[in-house]
Amino acid sequence: MKLLVTGAAGFIGSTYVHLVHGEHDVVVLDKLTYAGRRENLPDGVELVVGAIEDRDLVRQLVEGRDAVVNFAAESHVDRSIAEQDAFARTHVIGTGVLLDAVRELRVPRFLQVSTDEVYGSIPEGSFTELSPLDPSSPYSATKAGGDLLVSAHAHTYGIEAVICRGSNNYGPRQYPEKLIPLCVLNAIHGDPLPVYGDGRQVRNWLYVEDFCRAIHAVLERGRSGEAYNAGGPDECENIAVVRRILELTGRDESLIEYVRDRPGHDRRYSLSSEKFRAELGWEAAVRFDEGLRRTVEWYRENEWWWGPVRSGEYRAYYERHYGRPLAS
Ligand code: NAD
Ligand code: DAU
Repeated sequence: MKLLVTGAAGFIGSTYVHLVHGEHDVVVLDKLTYAGRRENLPDGVELVVGAIEDRDLVRQLVEGRDAVVNFAAESHVDRSIAEQDAFARTHVIGTGVLLDAVRELRVPRFLQVSTDEVYGSIPEGSFTELSPLDPSSPYSATKAGGDLLVSAHAHTYGIEAVICRGSNNYGPRQYPEKLIPLCVLNAIHGDPLPVYGDGRQVRNWLYVEDFCRAIHAVLERGRSGEAYNAGGPDECENIAVVRRILELTGRDESLIEYVRDRPGHDRRYSLSSEKFRAELGWEAAVRFDEGLRRTVEWYRENEWWWGPVRSGEYRAYYERHYGRPLAS
């Protein structure tokens, strides 16, 4: 296939491109926000720097492609609580621009990468694809807006479009604003590990390569107009994740620091992947303990990747958000 992959200079999109670029012809469109980096992509993959809201550019790039896979997003919940504009622009306006181009230029397939957060929080049990969307944060509300536009375009114009919703991803090349890489790097440096509220919130962890395999299965074989939930194999309280990171980095619990809770913090996410397994035969393969071990090892071995990140925009963000500078 000739693929246009948007937002692929970021964490999950770049992993997806590493997975498929030998077999498919890939062009990447990415705005290179603070989270996007050219060096995340494999050598030889064409990167066009620009935004998915740019109608003219999108039309040029979409023409002649067999499919568009949309990863482009502002992906951090805390940043959406502080300032929402870019979230609405990328997730709603940008997705709409991609969908218009796919329809007008008759691209055979569109895949929207989405998130379990569109369903909101669930105290027990798991969300299925039939659960109502009930997002809590500006991040998840605008992601839900994008998803609804995808379904509306499939319904109204008959375009071939599918949605793949993943639970919390982790793995190499994740920007260190997210819980796992933040705590791994802080532990390596001896900085405190900030735990929001009581630390008893639950996330359903999915190794990034498992999610990328899920996305590709939906692209190739998912039924048009449908969503597929890709949940991780293990759920875990945040405090247990943090304790495991301390063990893997050889640090003790004195580094744990309980801090002010996230406003509107979702308590628990959980996805049922039953439809995915039954229809497309996908299941996550990497258990959390193994994936976390691999992730910690990757950060230990790849200072060339995180060194420049920890000294740039991230330091200012960290101080603004946590009210204290990174000590080291
Ligand atoms: P990320 O922040 O690492 O990467 C996002 C990429 O999108 C960056 O390269 C950025 O430059 C690019 N981008 C942002 N706005 C753009 C725009 N307007 N036009 C073009 N490019 C733009 O995010 P990620 O964690 O890799 O997430 C990728 C996708 O997966 C997102 O749609 C996210 O909602 C979804 N998702 C993430 C997770 C997770 O745990 N991280 C879980 C499920 C779903
Ligand atoms: O569930 C999928 C979603 O997972 C994706 O759609 C989002 O793009 C991605 O950012 C992620 O959202 P979360 O808000 O769950 O991830 P984050 O890593 O920010 O936080 C994970 C949990 O850890 C959450 O309960 C908040 C908590 N946390 C986070 C940070 C950054 C802390 O306790 N301390 C922290 O410093």
